[in-house]
Parts: sequence; C-alpha cells; structure tokens
Amino acid sequence: MNKILIINGPNLNLLGVREPGIYGNSSMDDCVSALRVKYPEVVIEYFQSNHEGAIIDKLHEVGFNESYKGVVLNAGAYTHTSLAIADAIAAIKLPVVEVHISNVHAREAVRHTSMISPVCVGVIAGFGLDSYRLGVETLLNR
Ligand code: DQA
Repeated sequence: MNKILIINGPNLNLLGVREPGIYGNSSMDDCVSALRVKYPEVVIEYFQSNHEGAIIDKLHEVGFNESYKGVVLNAGAYTHTSLAIADAIAAIKLPVVEVHISNVHAREAVRHTSMISPVCVGVIAGFGLDSYRLGVETLLNR
C-alpha cells in the first residue's frame, strides 16, 4: 500500500487565518482533501502539532513502517531551531521531504537556516500550498 504522511508543525493549524498575505487563504483541510482527490491510489495521512516532542513521536511511530513512501514535513519555525527534529529524521528509515509554503530564503535571515535540510531528501519552498503536492509527487516518484 502507498501511504504518505504529511506533518505540519507549530501554527500551521491556523492556515487560512494566519498572515494570509504570506500563507494564503486556504486551510490545510482544503489542501489535504484536494490531494486525496488527486491521488486516490495513495493513503494520505495528516498530522499537525504545535509541540516539538509530538512531532518527534510521530516521526518515530511511522519512520520504520515500510507501508509508507515517506513523510512530507513542514516543521514551521522548528525548521530553524530543532536539532531534536533533525536527529529524529536522521534516526528513521523513511525519506522526509522538507516543505515550506513561503519562500523562506526571501524572508528574514533567521528563516534562511534550516536545521533539518541536511537530513531531508530535499527541500521545496515558496509554492504556497502547492509545495505539499510537490512533496507528495517527489515521494511517489522515488
Ligand atoms: C514556514 C516558514 C517558517 O519560517 C515559519 O516559521 C512557518 C511556516 C512555511 O511554510 O513557509 O511557520 O515553514
């Protein structure tokens, strides 16, 4: 079975409401629903947490399960700070694609550094919610 897990980190539960000029007007529910319609042969699971440890627990939970093609991860601000999430990605077997809705490199300098990029298979940033589709495509094409 082809399964893909999308994980969103802190504040991404507020998509559609939060800073719409940067993150747009659509909710993550809309995004996940559209992905499920586009890829009916794939089981697309979604998990969001504002808590670093919960994201790590989720990575551990699925990270050795070969029924998953991989994880699409938007770690939000933890991208820039979390050695612990980087260590969790390095520890698991599944490939993790780092995604961002905004072009982090066109924003404040603090967002130019990612703790997780070195342990992810690649980075997709700046394509709005389409970044998640590109992340799913990447995993399906591997
Ligand atoms: C983000 C970019 C991060 O810098 C920010 O902290 C977020 C969202 C993005 O998707 O563009 O929460 O990961």
